[in-house]
Amino acid sequence: MQDQPKTIAYRQSSFYKDGTGSRPLVDGTVPRGYLRDDPAFFFGKKLNASDLNKEQQYQRSQQPGNSANAFPDDVETIPMPLTMDDMKRGQDRFNIYCSVCHGMTGYGDGIVARRGFNKPSPASYHQERLQNAPVGHFFDVMTNGWGAMPSYASQVSVEDRWRIAAYIRALQLSQMKGGGNPTVTEGANSETGKTQENAGKDARAPK
Ligand code: HEC
Repeated sequence: MQDQPKTIAYRQSSFYKDGTGSRPLVDGTVPRGYLRDDPAFFFGKKLNASDLNKEQQYQRSQQPGNSANAFPDDVETIPMPLTMDDMKRGQDRFNIYCSVCHGMTGYGDGIVARRGFNKPSPASYHQERLQNAPVGHFFDVMTNGWGAMPSYASQVSVEDRWRIAAYIRALQLSQMKGGGNPTVTEGANSETGKTQENAGKDARAPK
């Protein structure tokens, strides 16, 4: 009984043609709990994402005056409900994972940047291009990394990435003219007046 022929997972076996005891997964198999069926929530992308690849998006975003439509694929609203507890969790995660480089208030002056990780510098969130960027862009940067910045997908869960994005919106609002009052349009995108309205919506910032 002890020596009966059998296969052991991942061990070599001469029984099957491919030489391994494990059978390959059926195409399209999704492990339980890993179904990523909502592109807005899991990837921060709109359903009909255009064919622009990341490099093209990046090139576009670098062109001055092109900020409003720099990230056409990224969602403009946070695809989950947010409570005050979510905002606090976002602040907490931001302070742990992002502030070391981007600074507690998001000006890109965290201790790691001041000690030398500054070629290029961590971005300030208070530049016009990022004030105008859709909230999905922040999710994308955390998920996939951006230039010199590494991905945080393995350390920060999907939900927490959205909470951090919400907190960044609140930080941005706090530094805008008008003290972050969403009804004040000064400093918002002059064409659409959209920035602060959206920011307010995204962040559900407390009054
Ligand atoms: C180790 C330092 C470091 C940490 C930690 C870090 N970043 Fe960054 N981040 C950078 C650098 C450097 C850049 C600029 C990259 C470039 O332009 O090549 C950047 C750029 C960005 C940008 C701007 C992207 C653009 O469109 O220009 C955003 C948004 C951002 N980071 C968000 C975050 C968030 C959110 C976190 C926390 C989850 C975080 N970063 C943590 C270093 C860091």
